[in-house]
Amino acid sequence: MALSAKMIDFASRASWIRKMFEEGARMKEQFGAENVFDFSLGNPDLPPPPQYLAAMNEVLAEEKPGVHGYMANAGYPAVRKAVAARISSEQQVIVDETEMLMTCGAAGGLNVVMKSLLDPGDEVIILAPFFVEYNFYIDNHGGVGRIVNTGSDFSLDLAAIDAALTPKTKAIIVNSPNNPTGQIYSREELTRLGELLGAAGRKFGTVIYLVADEPYRKIVYDGAEVPSIFQATNNAILVSSYSKDLSLPGERIGYIAVHPEVTDKMLLLGAMALANRILGFVNAPALMQRVVARLQGVTVDSSIYARRRESFCRVLRETGYEFVPPKGAFYLFPKSPIADDARFCALLQEQKILAVPGRGFGMPGYFRLAFCVEDSVIERSAEGFKRAMAAARN
Ligand SMILES: Cc1ncc(COP(=O)(O)O)c(C=O)c1O
Repeated sequence: MALSAKMIDFASRASWIRKMFEEGARMKEQFGAENVFDFSLGNPDLPPPPQYLAAMNEVLAEEKPGVHGYMANAGYPAVRKAVAARISSEQQVIVDETEMLMTCGAAGGLNVVMKSLLDPGDEVIILAPFFVEYNFYIDNHGGVGRIVNTGSDFSLDLAAIDAALTPKTKAIIVNSPNNPTGQIYSREELTRLGELLGAAGRKFGTVIYLVADEPYRKIVYDGAEVPSIFQATNNAILVSSYSKDLSLPGERIGYIAVHPEVTDKMLLLGAMALANRILGFVNAPALMQRVVARLQGVTVDSSIYARRRESFCRVLRETGYEFVPPKGAFYLFPKSPIADDARFCALLQEQKILAVPGRGFGMPGYFRLAFCVEDSVIERSAEGFKRAMAAARN
């Protein structure tokens, strides 16, 4: 075999989401797009806010020599300054432009962090259910993912995390608001997690970084707040993007910021700038950096997601499903009425409803529904959810 055996293996079991996407495309062709209820993809369908186009036009009008050139691998200083100011107010810890870098989305940022932290065999704790790409990102840099389940309401199971820490643990990735559960970890949970990582580091003579993956920070419901990760521990690395809150996932623009007192700060920042370069990103897209610098504090109209969340929760409640209402992001993660979540997703598919089995997120027995769809799709899916539940009970 000419190709990497590992990649062939990864490709064969890579993604339930991709599988459902392909199924969806086939079904839409066969039955007509309006007759398929596709809740499989977390691809924001809201347009970017109107300020986006204005910013884009301003940036396009700035055409002058050098604007398309290479730059410092960490990004334009002026852009970093604008982003750092907003992060400082969000985190309630002052971060300056030298303590952050612009990246190709949160995905690029997470790869930069993993490359900078991991030696072969180092462990990274991820919390199930998790964003499925984490395992790949960790493996990309020779690390090993250690999976720890969350509690029954998807809150942190601190005792289980504690039990999973070893002298090889380099980091834990915490994603809040969470994909796929919509859970937001509380200030108390995060503070206790920070203390626990600090105590384990002292015991092992190591440093364990808390990596917060926060692309959904601005998409929250019922006035929920996402607590500051920088107040939970000094050894915090924040990764985020504009993919969800400005609906720009295809533009690949995000950032990393570190706590001003993070251990080995200068080495870490230098390693991350180099990683941005040698992973082949080189730097985050120039045009998009200049656009987002003008959009600090601007967000999509998340009241639209809030309205869909309300109607989806009502549809699921009325059709007999068990779920924890999401506090943020745009997913629901209900319990499958039968143990075999893939089988249940097949029953949903018979009703032309596309959902992703929980096993795709490391948590069988559940399924994920993304509400990046028109409200009417949610409303019209009720009958199908009811029939699938009846079929499961037979
Ligand atoms: C939890 C989580 N982290 C990271 C990402 C990647 O985001 P980006 O498009 O900014 O790379 C996603 C995208 O869906 C996500 O759900």
